[in-house]
Amino acid sequence: MEPITVRLFRYHPEQDDKPWSQDVEVDGSFRCRMVLDVLEHLKTLDTTLTFRRSCREGVCGSDGLNINGRNNLGCITRVEDMLGKKNLLEIRPLPGMPVIRDLVVDQTLFFEQYKRIQPWLINDSPRPATERLQSPEDRAKLDGLYECILCACCTSACPSWWWNPEKYIGPSGLLQAYRFLQDSRDTATAERLEKLEDPFSVFRCRGIGNCTAYCPKGLNPMKAIGRIKAMLLREET
Ligand code: FES
Repeated sequence: MEPITVRLFRYHPEQDDKPWSQDVEVDGSFRCRMVLDVLEHLKTLDTTLTFRRSCREGVCGSDGLNINGRNNLGCITRVEDMLGKKNLLEIRPLPGMPVIRDLVVDQTLFFEQYKRIQPWLINDSPRPATERLQSPEDRAKLDGLYECILCACCTSACPSWWWNPEKYIGPSGLLQAYRFLQDSRDTATAERLEKLEDPFSVFRCRGIGNCTAYCPKGLNPMKAIGRIKAMLLREET
């Protein structure tokens, strides 16, 4: 099988003046493996290659990468699905976030925005003797929302986030915001909406849709953002 050229983004801030690109060939048999397998293999050849990973099965969200121009999780992306005619696999860090080293980005602002939406249940009523119950119908409303693994593939693909990462919450945070707005056990809907009501937090979304196109879990942040906008606009009238 024809070998595959892997083009890696490299940057070690203590050694390199600027980022550079490294081409490495790997055996063609990697076609049926995952992108993360390629990185693990390359790390055995060059231990300085730096990337994040943990679960290797699409659960922890730590190996979000830009692979041949698309954000995805390295561990669940098959090499052959990404290879074009050029037989080239280009692996870069997630865009729109400062690079710490090689494929590792600084996600401080991403998690700051996540914190802003108060990603926990708020309920002021007296604590019940057992758990807070929810009907199956209300529970079903959280499907498609709770599965987000915070990999940042959506947010880092969003031009509105690139320009305003301090002020725009971004698709991942807003998907989670909607998850709590939808939760029948949460009693802070009005307060949550009030915190989102400004020109940037939600309304900076321009409906571009990269978030939904790139979510490795098949979620739809753009739809959730649309629903929050509708709730906010209803509040205003
Ligand atoms: Fe955990 Fe890929 S290593 S999601």
